[in-house]
Amino acid sequence: MKILVTEHVAQEGLDYIRKNNIEIEGKMNLTPQELAQIIGNYDAVITRSGTRITKETLTNPGKLKVIGRAGVGVDSIDIAEASKKGIIVINAPGANTIAAAELTTGMMLNALRKLPTAHYSLKYERKWDRKKFMGVELSGKTLGIVGLGHVGSEVAKRAKAFGAKCLAYDPYIKKTKALDLGVELVEQFDEILERSDIITFHTPLTKETKNMMTKKEIDKAKDGVILINCARGGIINEKDLYESIKSGKVAACGIDTFEKEPATDNPLLDLDNVFVTPHIGANSNESQINVSLILAQQIVNALLGRPYQNA
Ligand code: MLT
Repeated sequence: MKILVTEHVAQEGLDYIRKNNIEIEGKMNLTPQELAQIIGNYDAVITRSGTRITKETLTNPGKLKVIGRAGVGVDSIDIAEASKKGIIVINAPGANTIAAAELTTGMMLNALRKLPTAHYSLKYERKWDRKKFMGVELSGKTLGIVGLGHVGSEVAKRAKAFGAKCLAYDPYIKKTKALDLGVELVEQFDEILERSDIITFHTPLTKETKNMMTKKEIDKAKDGVILINCARGGIINEKDLYESIKSGKVAACGIDTFEKEPATDNPLLDLDNVFVTPHIGANSNESQINVSLILAQQIVNALLGRPYQNA
């Protein structure tokens, strides 16, 4: 059996796959057409968020049995089409939770204290500008968490350690989970908008969450609100975010995930109070090893006819 790997995945999982006598072929930077042409030659494919598996990719699925997503989000995969063709989709939920939660916490601090700008100013402009970098504390602020799953819960723990009050909106979780975390669960998203100083999103990208934060919602938020999106591009409408930063309604934002990636020519990059990273929420050594091992085990199980967990 043979597995195609289209993006960088930690060695540990690949070693595990090879130990099970399954071959691996790495082919990076394939165009969608190239991927569609060769995908059917493999028993499984392992991707990250940089590879889209669409209906077109699966036109000639050949012997493909498994699509492995080295991460959590499966929005880059046409699951309905895969199921129609009898292809299993496997991901690694929970494996990169801590990396994503820590990046989110860093993004909040960046937005509150403008750390990247101060760093740039001293290091690259050689300015000793202490007055310019007056910040705001996380302590005593209200953090609205949209999505209290794996990552949202870990963000709550960290924010509480900083002395923030945490609210959460998540129609899919039990009140007791929020209570255990010391988080106030609200029933309406509007309550998050109206009461939060900082709002952070930790949901998958679905029909329900796409454009969940447009001008209409931003207008209901506090003046000077801070928005963080280290979950998926498209949850916050970028055009509306751009206008709201320009008008000062949104004081700052931290964005790791964009509507279109790579986002090297995104207009948001032109604005001072937009702090950005190139979709690195899952990029810690620890999380990449976790992701790769968990995924490899499940894929091997699926290919060898053992019980496995799918997405
Ligand atoms: C995820 O969904 O877990 C991440 O987007 C994975 C990645 O970095 O590709």
